[in-house]
Amino acid sequence: MSMQTQRIAEQNASSRPAARKVFVKAFGCQMNVYDGERMVDVLRARGFSPANAPEEADLVILNTCHIREKAAEKVYSELGRLRVLRDRRREEGRDMAIAVAGCVAQAEGEAMLRRAPAIDFIFGPQSIQRLPELIDRLDAGERGMVETDFPAEDKFAKLEQESKAPPAVPPTAFLAVQEGCDKFCTFCVVPYTRGAEYSRPAADIIREAERLVAKGAKEITLLGQNVNAWHGEGLDGETWNLARLLEELARMDGLQRLRFTTSHPNDMDDDLIAAFAENEKLMPYLHLPVQAGSDRILKAMNRRHTAEDYIRLIGRIRAAREDIAISGDFIVGFPGETEAEFADTLALVREVQYAHAYSFRYSPRPGTPAAEMDNQVPEEVKAERLSRLQALLAEQQQAFNRRFLGRRFSLLLTGTGRHEGQLVGRSPWLQAVHVPGAGHAIGEMVEVEVTKAGRNALGARIVA
Ligand code: SAH
Ligand code: SF4
Ligand code: F3S
Repeated sequence: MSMQTQRIAEQNASSRPAARKVFVKAFGCQMNVYDGERMVDVLRARGFSPANAPEEADLVILNTCHIREKAAEKVYSELGRLRVLRDRRREEGRDMAIAVAGCVAQAEGEAMLRRAPAIDFIFGPQSIQRLPELIDRLDAGERGMVETDFPAEDKFAKLEQESKAPPAVPPTAFLAVQEGCDKFCTFCVVPYTRGAEYSRPAADIIREAERLVAKGAKEITLLGQNVNAWHGEGLDGETWNLARLLEELARMDGLQRLRFTTSHPNDMDDDLIAAFAENEKLMPYLHLPVQAGSDRILKAMNRRHTAEDYIRLIGRIRAAREDIAISGDFIVGFPGETEAEFADTLALVREVQYAHAYSFRYSPRPGTPAAEMDNQVPEEVKAERLSRLQALLAEQQQAFNRRFLGRRFSLLLTGTGRHEGQLVGRSPWLQAVHVPGAGHAIGEMVEVEVTKAGRNALGARIVA
């Protein structure tokens, strides 16, 4: 585009009906947050600016999650509220469009339109790059569009081409490096909603990281449904692994911290374990879900490793980085899980000692093999097991945090706290840390000493 046509394009964008606003509400995982940011970038190039609330928006996009039934059902109650809001807006003479994106859109497609006719259009996680086209069709008066193909085009490259980057970004940023999953755990919808594993080329990732750092990011978390399975084209044309990509990113001036999530135990290779010892910018935190502690259940889940394999792996990771914070995901009440098998999960948790974890009741998902298994566990049994597991995990999180009392480390200030003058930051171990922040600003790295340790957060004072 020449300077002249670019200027005209920008004028056109800004002279559209009173600069429209978009609100994206993200449910589910960090990938949905990242995708939501990409939607805003793409729409910025079309003259939209971000709204702070649905009430201010001309377009509301629900970026949905299908992982558990509760997550998926939330979308419909949200749609009900939006319809009421839109009716009110129409009475005031201002319209509002409603779109549904993300994994529920992918899984349910057309069927969503029948259940919630208020939806103007639907697009899946692999069709975000189609958003500009969808907006054109909306502006032309079309409704009920559904884009849920897995197109052959490179979503990320197309998005980069179409987007207009934001003027500034927060000190912590997400960067998707991998998408999709080929593992097919028997409980999980992700391989169906996100499609097959895809790794972005290193050059594209580095370019995006440079842009984020230039706009203020100090810490970048690489994202992927199976991020440690990343094996992309390297800068030298060879296939790189994640450790090699992290090594390259660590060379970037201004980028101070690196993280990655979510990893699968079977893709934790030696290089990646060594990176925790060798890569100084890689933070000592690893989210490594195991789901369950019983070998029979792990097999039925198609996780393809045993409890012992996992525990040995954790040992090797701790040998590389002794202070690493280990985090996990757990599912209780998978079909056929007995009390003794659940006790194996508790035993594994006691052995590993988690710094942090997420735990869920098993939720049967349409189209997944486990949903068809005939030995489903009653809800009250799941609830009771979950509360026992969560009590143990809470205890471990509290114990992990307590060990930090009196310790010093560098804190990245990321936001304002609840109290006047208070700032909140991120520790290397991903703990939230509150500090009296007078004289300091978001985005700074400060040296702190821990004065308080709660279950979910630490308190500290700035020492330098
Ligand atoms: N790719 C990641 C996790 C993706 S989903 C991994 O393999 O670990 C995030 C978490 O949701 C999973 O780790 C699992 O603990 C949970 N989850 C997935 N499907 C579920 C289901 N049907 N019911 C309950 N929890 C589920
Ligand atoms: Fe789902 Fe398993 Fe893939 Fe994780 S590894 S996204 S749990 S299928
Ligand atoms: Fe949910 Fe899809 Fe992420 S189902 S957890 S939004 S990959």
